[in-house]
Amino acid sequence: MSTHISVPPQLLLERILTLEIVRVTERAAVSAARLRGHGQEKAADQAAVDAMRRELNKLPIEGTIVIGEGERDEAPMLFIGEKVGLNAGPKVDIAVDPLEGTTLCAKNMPGAIATMAMADGGTLLHAPDVYMQKIAVGPGYKKGVVELDASAITVLVLYRPRHADIIASVRSTGAAVRFITDGDVAGVIHCADPENTGVDMYIGTGGAPEGVLAAAALRCIGGQMQCRLILDSEEKRERAHKMGVLDPKMIYGIEDMARGDCLFAATGVTTGSLLSGVKFRKDVIETETVVMRSVTGTVRYIKAEHRQLDKFHLD
Ligand code: FBP
Repeated sequence: MSTHISVPPQLLLERILTLEIVRVTERAAVSAARLRGHGQEKAADQAAVDAMRRELNKLPIEGTIVIGEGERDEAPMLFIGEKVGLNAGPKVDIAVDPLEGTTLCAKNMPGAIATMAMADGGTLLHAPDVYMQKIAVGPGYKKGVVELDASAITVLVLYRPRHADIIASVRSTGAAVRFITDGDVAGVIHCADPENTGVDMYIGTGGAPEGVLAAAALRCIGGQMQCRLILDSEEKRERAHKMGVLDPKMIYGIEDMARGDCLFAATGVTTGSLLSGVKFRKDVIETETVVMRSVTGTVRYIKAEHRQLDKFHLD
């Protein structure tokens, strides 16, 4: 007798997509990793974009890029609004950062990743490509513990001159600061596992698109986050307004940025504390990917060995 488990078809499809999106970030990571250490930010990013787009277009989805490489006139591929997928299957919003940490990859420094999130259609924040103030902690804290305008305690901070005040305020409490030079999607994810990463909180200003990707990850693994777009010119306010941002000063919580069921995946390009980078061996290419699903909170680390790349056009 077979066991019948009643699962709504929509959820079953998403379950399959969890593994499908691993392929997408794997291919982007491998393509970017071929240019690790060559000092060519743009070329590495383009290689990741091409591979990611090619793989997204093989998925059984009606996908819309909501966080992408830019607006239609400035990005020929994976532009905001671009439709991806086989035009069959669930309508989904997609946020991508094919190479998060272009400088890290170009300099062959730790922590570059290829990352994306996928969520029910209409549920990811359409964030313009501006700066966003962010504060985040992992699971296990009382609701409301995170407040964008409160002073910080123990934090990971992007190493930028604009963060001098935050750094001084953290240190004035006697707390320690840990710096990253780039890559605040992984930065936010670090505070979800303080025992292993030694990071309790992330605070600072980074890219808004990266903020939405990080929010999608925290939707899956738990945690709290507050963000505010920095719309400091009329041009930016207009751009944001066109994307549906009606209150330029709004403070976004996680669910304002990633409301529906969502999936998040990231593959290491260079080795960092979250993921190993791509390894090119004699006949095999190895990748490591983390993939998460909000409906169950499952987090999988997938190590893959890729063979016969030319035969299957895998990157
Ligand atoms: P790129 O991959 O686009 O270079 O982004 C890297 C990054 O460090 C992000 O993680 C972060 O959100 C943003 O840049 C910070 O912006 P800036 O380098 O202008 O301070």
